[in-house]
Amino acid sequence: MTPEYRHNPVMLKEVLASYEFRDGSVVCDCTLGGAGHSLAMAEKILPQGVLVGIDQDDLALEVAGKRIAEAYPSLKSFQLKGNFSQIDELLSSVPLAGVDFFLFDLGVSSPQFDIPERGFSYREEAPLDMRMDPGKQTLTAQEVIETYNVADLTRIIRDYGEEKFANKIAKLLVERRLTNPVKTTFDLVDVIKAAIPARERRSGGHPAKKTFQALRIEVNHELEVLESALVQALRWLNPKGRIAVISYHSLEDRIVKQTFKEYTKGCTCPPDMPVCTCGNTPTIKVITNKPLVPQASELEENPRARSAKLRIAEKL
Ligand SMILES: C[S@@+](CC[C@H](N)C(=O)[O-])C[C@H]1O[C@@H](n2cnc3c(N)ncnc32)[C@H](O)[C@@H]1O
Ligand SMILES: [Zn+2]
Repeated sequence: MTPEYRHNPVMLKEVLASYEFRDGSVVCDCTLGGAGHSLAMAEKILPQGVLVGIDQDDLALEVAGKRIAEAYPSLKSFQLKGNFSQIDELLSSVPLAGVDFFLFDLGVSSPQFDIPERGFSYREEAPLDMRMDPGKQTLTAQEVIETYNVADLTRIIRDYGEEKFANKIAKLLVERRLTNPVKTTFDLVDVIKAAIPARERRSGGHPAKKTFQALRIEVNHELEVLESALVQALRWLNPKGRIAVISYHSLEDRIVKQTFKEYTKGCTCPPDMPVCTCGNTPTIKVITNKPLVPQASELEENPRARSAKLRIAEKL
């Protein structure tokens, strides 16, 4: 375990500007991490505000809990361990009537990447794990690689990694595993490098980046849990409350965009219906028609912010 838990909060200025935080606001940070965003929001809701932080990672919760307690000892705050797809259950466990502001800052935090044993990093030799909550999850990246067929591996690496050579990588993985188990991050990097033509390997980032992202999404069911979490969060939001979501790849961003769109629609009756029978009315309005992206100055300081997109919606 790394002794320090460092993570620069992405698009912090934009997040702070996305809602009129005031004394007494109830804030729920669904991806607490190192509490970078949470600490900044906490300052704005004192002394009556409530700060709820959710994370499925034990180390993040421990570090964030200490930081919040040290910085704002009088603040009413709760740190809840669990997957944000269980917002209903988690929020029901604390005395809250509703939430004024939800934040999702998706993905993995820098420290999770930096702890080699977690298996998230293609730069460190480690078992292929990638579970965000190893205590609860059983499926590991190694199991995906050892048991999925070529078609499924191709689909995952192509769809979740947007990798052009998905099929080549999938085929080579299945071929290799017959003779040599692909057990570690470096075993996997070797296969990826062998599957991607040398000319292509020289352009762009690390050749393994996309495949590693794809496996992480599969292992943690990241897309399914996101949609379910957004739907629950929208229900908990107080009128005029806002939800802000920072995503890091296009599939996540599309889920955020489409879920928001769904809730801005009113009636879903067929167009030839003379009167409305569904009774549906819009429940939110979208504040960002186009997602906000980090400023150039932030990108210079924090390359992790590169692919970030921020979408905001307001409950009616
Ligand atoms: C990018 S980090 C958040 C960093 C944080 N905003 C900060 O400034 O320190 C994402 C965090 O969300 C957590 N996380 C990701 N998916 C989750 C999920 N489905 N349920 C609960 N926590 C999740 C990760 O464990 C990680 O700590
Ligand atoms: Zn209708």
